[in-house]
Amino acid sequence: MTKQRVELALQAFDSILPRSEGEGKTEQDALLDKNAPGTNCMNGGPVTPTEVSRIIDLRSDTVTQPTALMRAAMAEALVDDDILGSDPTAAKLQENTAKMFGKEAGLFVPSGTMGNLIAVLVHCEVRGSEVILGSESHIHYYEQGGISTLGGVYSHVIPNERDGTMDIRKVEAAIRPDDDHFASTRLICIENTHNRCGGRCISVEYTDRIGELAKSYNLKFHIDGARIFNAAVALGVSVERLCRAADSVSICLSKGLGAPVGSVLVGSQAFITKAKRLRKALGGGMRQLGVLCAPGLVCLDYMVQRLDCDHRNARLLAEGLNRIRGLRVDLNSVDTNIVFIEISSESSLGIEEISEALKRKGILVMTMDRTRIRLVTHYQITEDDARRVRTCFKEILVNSSKSATKNGFV
Ligand SMILES: Cc1ncc(COP(=O)(O)O)c(C=O)c1O
Repeated sequence: MTKQRVELALQAFDSILPRSEGEGKTEQDALLDKNAPGTNCMNGGPVTPTEVSRIIDLRSDTVTQPTALMRAAMAEALVDDDILGSDPTAAKLQENTAKMFGKEAGLFVPSGTMGNLIAVLVHCEVRGSEVILGSESHIHYYEQGGISTLGGVYSHVIPNERDGTMDIRKVEAAIRPDDDHFASTRLICIENTHNRCGGRCISVEYTDRIGELAKSYNLKFHIDGARIFNAAVALGVSVERLCRAADSVSICLSKGLGAPVGSVLVGSQAFITKAKRLRKALGGGMRQLGVLCAPGLVCLDYMVQRLDCDHRNARLLAEGLNRIRGLRVDLNSVDTNIVFIEISSESSLGIEEISEALKRKGILVMTMDRTRIRLVTHYQITEDDARRVRTCFKEILVNSSKSATKNGFV
């Protein structure tokens, strides 16, 4: 959005923006000041006026409410029937995203799952193709095997290392020779940041090596970049550099960037032309699409630069929680906005009891398995929230160990 449009949008929620006292600078001014020293954690405006309760929701960064700027941008969006032609706001979002990533074209899709599905199906358009991907990858773990059900694509699964990478020697060994016994390997996928590995960042060097490997075997290379901006911010590189080696990237707007819906797929013009046809077949062609794309433009302009705040809050949580008896956090694994807490045998409470006790204090977390809790920081989590969460964890674990001692359990 231009500065003028932002100002118009800001007028729309003027009444809900608190004005800072004294220094003559309003919070609106701060919102517009992209060059303010440090990162402005409130870039994008406050959360919606409907956000009245102080539930601290750390289940995922998908729980974010659209910001006031996003709602205003949606209300103002110029739209057209995107199936009959081109919706101007969608076209702008697609073009701007592609440009940021140094790719020829972009396509808005309703979800990250559809972005990945379309990418895999376009790269593997011949039935019986094989894709190499990680055992913990979202595509393999959480997308219902859609690439197989809907596209006849066979998965060759390589174990993910703890840092989210796959051993490159294993990736190379998995590439099938040209032999009638085998499926044809056509694609390698990586995920950055890696969700199930705890939001780990995949480096430029590793990404380039996978790109070189793919090229040398005439394969395509896709990045599930649901949280690619988190990786770029944490690594201090541009998304263009980070994804240079990839043929396609799927980027979620509805995770840490805070948009209510959507992802953008980027790649070559030929790839996007095929992707657009497939999106229509999957029921993902949309009419006045600009209403959904307008928040995406706010994401690119205002939300990327504040992701660092989420990373700082995640670290604050991780360091504090790791000091509490009964909890363990691998501090080296906290690269971005995801924190995995291991409940150790020293805890007298089980994972469900801890999560229920937190809920009673207004804190929502996600249990991953029988010993791990996941916390994800995002736009609606402040530094004070992070401190409160640490205190609540401590109260819950200390009280439980006291009562266990009193009852002679420890
Ligand atoms: C790494 C990764 N890829 C893809 C997705 C899918 O996104 P969506 O929920 O929009 O389908 C997610 C969702 O959490 C994710 O974490």
